Amino acid sequence: MITAVVYSESGGTYKTTMTANIAVALERMGQNTLVLDLDPQEGNLTSLFDVGSNRSNPDADNLVKHILDMPDGEFSNLIETTAEGVDIIPSHDMLGDFTSNLEQKISYETGMQNMSREEYPRFELLYDLLWNKQQLQKQYDAILIDPNARAEDLLYNAIYALRTLIAPVKPAGKGNLSLEGLEELVGNMESQLDIEVGLSCVVPSGVGQTNAHQQYQQQFQDTEAFATPVTIGNRESLMDAMWEARGSAFKVVEERWKTFEQEGEMRSEPGHRRIRDREVETLRDLYTLAHFIATETFDADVAPVLELNIQDSEPIRIDLTEGTQTEVTTV
Ligand SMILES: Nc1ncnc2c1ncn2[C@@H]1O[C@H](COP(=O)(O)OP(=O)(O)O)[C@@H](O)[C@H]1O
Ligand SMILES: [Mg+2]
Repeated sequence: MITAVVYSESGGTYKTTMTANIAVALERMGQNTLVLDLDPQEGNLTSLFDVGSNRSNPDADNLVKHILDMPDGEFSNLIETTAEGVDIIPSHDMLGDFTSNLEQKISYETGMQNMSREEYPRFELLYDLLWNKQQLQKQYDAILIDPNARAEDLLYNAIYALRTLIAPVKPAGKGNLSLEGLEELVGNMESQLDIEVGLSCVVPSGVGQTNAHQQYQQQFQDTEAFATPVTIGNRESLMDAMWEARGSAFKVVEERWKTFEQEGEMRSEPGHRRIRDREVETLRDLYTLAHFIATETFDADVAPVLELNIQDSEPIRIDLTEGTQTEVTTV
């Protein structure tokens, strides 16, 4: 089973975009995939996929109520299915108050059971819900989490439950790497949670053509410290269009979503985007990344072939086993 938290120390490293694209790539490889959106803020995975209509309703059942063992309905009713087949448990405002709700529960339970607060397994609740109570391993091949950015209870619950990290990184101001920061963090989590945390790979993203960016990318590719299967280029136009297409970069290209100005207004519509080699190359990179995670990190058996059915155009078939440069063959 593939289980990973898409984690980054700093915000705005394209975490949510990355989670959506990896999830859809895994689904396209035949892996039944679920994503958990643990970020209560605007612009999260839930808004990207246009789900979670109850996210601001305090009375609605939500994941926090289930994690704290106070459900208001069936767990299966929390799950929504996106247009691209990926299942999602959407975000809810209550995620923002997770710690205070957890503290209340701990006070209550430790009072009832004559247990000390320190003994309470506060980081093990999501693990218990996903694997013991709901047995999601029987239903899914892959589970990904887009966590909240802050290093607090919810993030620790996510890492405790899934055990493996995928780390998107972005070229920093002066091109310096935060490799040490990342390793230190994995070490801290292991000792704090008393578990082993694996780092599947690091994914430099938003890398441009400037010298500083190219050097930055090179440093990552040269290191033996961890795997860097791909680098995702600076693809603002493609990735921004995901928020209009309400789906992955694969959907943007296949449905040809484009944002343009018309009569002084910005509009986004399918059927307009030109097919660009570098964008098809990025889809190949995203697929390669998901394939790496599935096969190298988790030993899953998945097909290395990406088929793109592009609106009003010839389909494109990319076989990842055929060389390193994209061989776009139209069939
Ligand atoms: N490879 C990329 N190059 C350029 N812009 C990107 C890339 N990936 C994502 N973006 C854009 O960056 C913005 C922030 O991305 P997001 O995934 O929401 O970041 P985070 O979840 O880390 O805060 C979005 O508008 C997105 O379209
Ligand atoms: Mg995000």
